[in-house]
Amino acid sequence: MELAKKCNVSNMQQIRLSSSWFGEEEIAAVSRVLKSHIVSMGIETKLFEEELHKFWGRKDSGVTCVNSCSAALQLSLQASGIKRGDEVIVPTYTFVATFQAVTANGAIPIPCDVDLDDGFISMDDAKKRLTQKTRAIIPVLFAGIDSKIEKVYQFAEENKLIVIEDAAHCFGNQNIAKRDGILCFSFDPIKNISCGDGGCVLTSQNEVTERLKDIRLLGVIGDTDRRFQGLRSFEFDVVEQGWRLHMNNIAAAIGRVQLAKFHIIQEKRQKNANMYIENLSDIEGIRPLPINVKTAVPHIFPIIITNGKRDELKAFLSEKGIETGVQYKPNHLLSYFNRGYDLPNACNFYESILSIPVHPLLREDEVLYVIDCIKEFFYVTKNQIF
Ligand SMILES: Cc1ncc(COP(=O)(O)O)c(C=O)c1O
Repeated sequence: MELAKKCNVSNMQQIRLSSSWFGEEEIAAVSRVLKSHIVSMGIETKLFEEELHKFWGRKDSGVTCVNSCSAALQLSLQASGIKRGDEVIVPTYTFVATFQAVTANGAIPIPCDVDLDDGFISMDDAKKRLTQKTRAIIPVLFAGIDSKIEKVYQFAEENKLIVIEDAAHCFGNQNIAKRDGILCFSFDPIKNISCGDGGCVLTSQNEVTERLKDIRLLGVIGDTDRRFQGLRSFEFDVVEQGWRLHMNNIAAAIGRVQLAKFHIIQEKRQKNANMYIENLSDIEGIRPLPINVKTAVPHIFPIIITNGKRDELKAFLSEKGIETGVQYKPNHLLSYFNRGYDLPNACNFYESILSIPVHPLLREDEVLYVIDCIKEFFYVTKNQIF
């Protein structure tokens, strides 16, 4: 345990895969809201939406805050007109939330394979999934990778599909500001910024934003504006199914603090990712994903283990006190979503991928310790083989 001692890692699993990063400012923000006695959606949510809007610098776009990215996806599908029985193409390699958002609308998620180089939705496979009923496609920006996104928009244009980007992993990516679709973000406990739980939709499609503002609050027409003025609706109308998925003042107040210190979070995450890229890229048996750390702020840092020893590495790191993860089990392997498709690239990913810690609470010596342990594993394994 020489390495562990160097880095004060004495107990099991001291280096967590992911972590929230809250401080006194967030505690003060929550306290401020509690003392105001107005904890439901109100002024904090309004200000957070305005600050996010400014952050992205997209003058023509609307921001709608909700209580998760799952909600953002579900409501975006509804607000863009997806209905019962419509088919939506979704990469099977994503968190189950992307699939559940589709079925929550009575629509059918059609699992699609991913490209082997980066885990991004395979456009070749997407073409095979098109039917008369296909209405939308949800590209997932897995690990913040979005370099092929234009191909999705082109495919959607050719086939008259709605594009809803699952950008849960992509907060802070500078390319986002240039895009024109419907983008859904997550502010859950371990994302690049966190509200405790939260999410938002960013879009320049005004009619989608208008609809989102009502359906996040049980479909009550105009309720968002009234709540932003500290009022409530008593006399109102409802014209469609709505849900109680808005973001409350407590969550928004936390999010505002996190947004204000995002530059620190960004620097820490990018520094950690760069250390991994510099130190792990040349190891035989590892292929880091092509995350562009100049534009993306890595929420997760997955590596592909090409020597077939992913599970052994996971166990080895666990013994060294380092938690890792396998993100994700492809959705077409889950009973609820299995449509009998063979999606080999996603399965290949599932068998060889391993996420290592990249969160902003990590100290530099802890990142170096993770690197040293991974190197040690490959050195030992290589010596065993040869
Ligand atoms: C790719 C992806 N989409 C959607 C979600 C759902 O986000 P939330 O937890 O905010 O609902 C997650 C959460 O981890 C995710 O990783």
